Amino acid sequence: MFTSLVKGMIENTPIKKWEYIDRRLEIRRKRKRIEFIEQFLPKNGIGAELGVFKGHLSPTLLEHTKPQKLHLIDPWYFLSSRWEWANGNQSTVDALIKILQIFKKEIEDGRILIHVGDDLQVVATFPDRYFDWVYIDTSHQYEHTKQELLLLESKVKEDGIIAGDDWQPDPNRRHYGVYKAVNEFVSSGKYTLIYSDNDNRQWAIKRS
Ligand SMILES: C[S@@+](CC[C@H](N)C(=O)[O-])C[C@H]1O[C@@H](n2cnc3c(N)ncnc32)[C@H](O)[C@@H]1O
Repeated sequence: MFTSLVKGMIENTPIKKWEYIDRRLEIRRKRKRIEFIEQFLPKNGIGAELGVFKGHLSPTLLEHTKPQKLHLIDPWYFLSSRWEWANGNQSTVDALIKILQIFKKEIEDGRILIHVGDDLQVVATFPDRYFDWVYIDTSHQYEHTKQELLLLESKVKEDGIIAGDDWQPDPNRRHYGVYKAVNEFVSSGKYTLIYSDNDNRQWAIKRS
């Protein structure tokens, strides 16, 4: 029944089989990510997304954590005029414009705060123990992730969560630096890895 329905959809619409599979995978990935956010990120708190670009994840974070305040932090055009990893339009100015448009109301209400700058510099300006959760999705480089974690140790509340994207245990893959830095960070014993997913690439840690 399901197979014939899929076959019918593929034959009767211009979408190709691989596009259909891609879309299904994307939907599955998005659903798993929502489950992760629902389960691990505290609700009604103060949160931050480090690395925002066009904000593919930001509306989901807003909807599923219902934060009092959500800080969106990214250098956008300060880093470069283009973000080379992006699909489609790579312009960082256009990405920021998109963010301002999507969240116009929440920005005006003061619920979403936009910070155009390097995350280490921006996060350092907040008081200690300020954030209930922080989601990291920035350079994915080992040294940078290490510095982010060290800084967040003082900026996240005692029972707060640090989470992120691109959990990649394969040392030959581009984003391995996140996996390496997070594992080193938890090996000190101060933090515990409470979730990691090689398939959906999410991870979360909290104070031990
Ligand atoms: C993978 S994209 C973020 C995608 C976004 N989280 C999403 O789900 O759509 C990575 C972003 O990290 C940002 N970035 C790179 N270095 C950064 C830094 N030092 N501080 C903050 N953001 C940084 C880039 O500008 C880029 O927009």
